[in-house]
Amino acid sequence: MLDGKSILLVVTGGIAAYKCLEVIRRVREKGARVRCILTRGGANFVTPLALGALSEDRVFQDLFSLTDEHEIGHIRLSREADVVLVAPASANVLAKMAAGQADDLATTALLATDKPIMVAPAMNPAMWAHPATRANMAILEGRGVHRVGPTEGAMAESGEWGLGRMAEPDAIVAALESLFGGAADGLLKDRRALVTSGPTHEAIDPVRYLANRSSGKQGHAVATALARLGAATTLVSGPTHQPAPAGVHLVRVETAREMLDACLAALPVDVAVMAAAVADWRPADAARNKLKKPAKGGKSGGKSAPPALKLVENPDILATLGGRNEGRPQLVVGFAAETDAVVENAVAKRRAKGCDWLVANDVSAAAATFGGDDNQVHLITADGVEEWPKISKSAVAERLAQRIAETLEPA
Ligand code: CTP
Repeated sequence: MLDGKSILLVVTGGIAAYKCLEVIRRVREKGARVRCILTRGGANFVTPLALGALSEDRVFQDLFSLTDEHEIGHIRLSREADVVLVAPASANVLAKMAAGQADDLATTALLATDKPIMVAPAMNPAMWAHPATRANMAILEGRGVHRVGPTEGAMAESGEWGLGRMAEPDAIVAALESLFGGAADGLLKDRRALVTSGPTHEAIDPVRYLANRSSGKQGHAVATALARLGAATTLVSGPTHQPAPAGVHLVRVETAREMLDACLAALPVDVAVMAAAVADWRPADAARNKLKKPAKGGKSGGKSAPPALKLVENPDILATLGGRNEGRPQLVVGFAAETDAVVENAVAKRRAKGCDWLVANDVSAAAATFGGDDNQVHLITADGVEEWPKISKSAVAERLAQRIAETLEPA
């Protein structure tokens, strides 16, 4: 997928800059050409010599360098590439991109390019969470800028934990690959896929909601893996911190009912993978105004019972798709979150929900599945139960996508 592609890599300031050396190595192994622009900030973390040695090309640093301008010029530099990758993308460069500033070679090239741009943000979690950065990123994504990461983890510089680490080189390379049409000639080309992911939020009142601990990692990974095999993939996701996977049509929803509507709107599809942790119940009537505690000193002396929450059942999206007579996806795959008797419950659940396969995982506290990176699953099919080894969620996703590709009947 990357063979013969030309990547303009913009390296901005951040400790994660060292990881871009590995990105260069990996994409070159796949046959891509890399040219680098190194910003002043980036040069504090990685040298032009290292970038030049790995890319086997000149490294561009100075907007007003006459030789560079004479030989190539910033417009050509940005347009000769098939994609511009900003890795690491600092909060500063995202802000400049959002504002359309062009005060150095990197930002000038980014403003001048007519090619897709992908950013791999890397910064302190507080900077990533700041409303200014959120707004800048939203502007950029609204303009079609692709994003990979950031991920959650320990920050190199402060030992803090949080969302802000640059995506790993593997994930960046995978995102670039799916940008280039996933796989125009992949096993799932001409196929349509639907994936659900994340939790749903069910309003109690305008400020409170019922939710669960799903991170969306597994569902997003499945959507990424299907798209990488060439499927036209719609991902319907509840609220998560996961970045939008490249090359996937993302529909953001909040509630189970919105998720069902978005899924029905995405039909027809060849395969549906329901990985969302949909809330089984919602409050019967979400209060229009914030529920208040009774005033102190009232009849009960302020000690009234808390309001009773009356719950009603949400629609079951998996069972709805699995039970369709007309327009049922050829393959309907559910996930089962179980805390005990995992396989037994999952076997019964596969039948009850009318799905073809069920991927069962243990979400007991001991298994640390929710929010964790690894997953140990059982694949339940009509033919029996397969135990898969404990592997990363993206490896589970890739293995599942591969199985789907092998199983779908020829189009
Ligand atoms: N699911 C769904 N709609 C719901 C509830 C669940 O589509 N309203 C899907 C999930 O996406 C998953 C599968 O059903 O693919 C199983 O979800 P799980 O939470 O394990 O099962 P439940 O049906 O909620 O059963 P229980 O909680 O009683 O085990």
